[in-house]
Amino acid sequence: MKSLVVYYSRSNITKKLAENIASMTNSDIEEIKPKVNYNGKLGYARGIKDGRSGKIVEIESLKYNPQDYDIIYIGGPVWASKVANPVISYLKLNENNLKDVKFFLTAGGSGFDSSFKQMEEFSKKPLKTLALTTKEVKKEEYDLKDFID
Ligand SMILES: Cc1cc2nc3c(=O)[nH]c(=O)nc-3n(C[C@H](O)[C@H](O)[C@H](O)COP(=O)(O)O)c2cc1C
Repeated sequence: MKSLVVYYSRSNITKKLAENIASMTNSDIEEIKPKVNYNGKLGYARGIKDGRSGKIVEIESLKYNPQDYDIIYIGGPVWASKVANPVISYLKLNENNLKDVKFFLTAGGSGFDSSFKQMEEFSKKPLKTLALTTKEVKKEEYDLKDFID
């Protein structure tokens, strides 16, 4: 089975998790890069605002075609109890191109359920989901076995 890991990460937490999933599943890996700047304090404020509104933001062109993969792992951070906008942009862009999907999220500790729900609005139901706190990812306090099986 060919698999692809797709993620957005503002401060490298989700990135770390995405890289672990990719190495354990032997997947190609795609980073979603927004054209909007979410860095620094201003970017944080923009993230809160955009997260709340759920708007679609522009993203850079992608390396991999999701249609070439049997399963796609898609992840990002939670912003204001929604998934970070670049992830929504990816899902929207590929609404009809995704076969099986699994979703993963990182957050300080809240907003997982509402974020998964929002992701499902742009995709079919995920086979599995994985929700980890920033702390768990940093300390590598998780087991990916169930998620990748
Ligand atoms: C704009 C913004 C909004 C956030 N909103 C939430 C939130 O609603 N709930 C939460 O638990 N964490 C929230 N966080 C924390 C991040 O979800 C968390 O630190 C995440 O692991 C960061 O992942 P990243 O490094 O991949 O961007 C927010 C962070 C940012 C930058």
